[in-house]
Amino acid sequence: MTPDDEAFDRLLDYVETDLGFATSYYDDAYLDRRVSSRMRRTDTEGYDGYLDLLEDDEREQEALLDAFSVNVTSFFRNPEVWEQLRSVLRTLSAERNRVRLWSAACSDGREPYSLSMLALDDPEVDDSAIEITATDIDREILSAARRGVYESTRTTDIGEQLAPLDEYEQYVERDGDRFAVTDAVKDLVSFERHDLINGDPKSNFDLVICRNLFIYIDTEHKLPILETVSKSLSKDGYLVIGKTETLPELLKPAFEPVARRLRIYRKIDSISIQQ
Ligand SMILES: C[S@@+](CC[C@H](N)C(=O)[O-])C[C@H]1O[C@@H](n2cnc3c(N)ncnc32)[C@H](O)[C@@H]1O
Repeated sequence: MTPDDEAFDRLLDYVETDLGFATSYYDDAYLDRRVSSRMRRTDTEGYDGYLDLLEDDEREQEALLDAFSVNVTSFFRNPEVWEQLRSVLRTLSAERNRVRLWSAACSDGREPYSLSMLALDDPEVDDSAIEITATDIDREILSAARRGVYESTRTTDIGEQLAPLDEYEQYVERDGDRFAVTDAVKDLVSFERHDLINGDPKSNFDLVICRNLFIYIDTEHKLPILETVSKSLSKDGYLVIGKTETLPELLKPAFEPVARRLRIYRKIDSISIQQ
């Protein structure tokens, strides 16, 4: 271990113990990129120097915790996935009286609201049978999700994100650059805090969508998260992961691909993993 590695470990220990952020679950390279970006912003040299600053400066503690939690999301992220999800929702709606969906790691709500809009939009989906649970570990992002108000900025065009729906205007109240999701869209979604690493599995979901969380989680914790998610699925339930993510080998026998390239799978077997 170099002195630099030791200083990095001291910094992570402080963040975990004193600031309560579970650094050990996250990929070191990811954490290093985030810390380094804060060091550049604060003009600090070396991890020990940054630790000194952090211990004395509550605002920097908040800034670092914000930098660790990556909430990037959008409505209908990867639109081709949502085209396929439309037919998945139709199948579920035809097969079941009640259809329970879980958006796990839902960030500011745009993912579960996209599910809700899709259900309301499609005449072949009985939206009165749809229930969407949306969870995240981050309390602040969940408050934003419950508000359901999104703003176009120089880099984010909310109208463009909603464009996969022909007449998206019926699902939002627009005031210039501000888009407020309507009550009809909100009514299908309930938000709650849930930690996918330490929390218990849920049960009987017909579809779990858990995307773009694994990209920054340490390899050894991906499997327990996917196990939690998979155990939460009903028989023949669907699993959707991020387009750049992969299903661990140990879980593959329990799923058959519905659209392999789009990372949509159907559960064909119960999950029991012995490592
Ligand atoms: C990049 S966003 C993904 C949002 C959405 N699923 C998407 O693909 O657009 C990742 C989310 O994972 C959440 N997250 C991080 N660790 C988590 C954990 N242990 N349990 C639940 N959510 C977590 C973060 O707060 C963040 O909102």
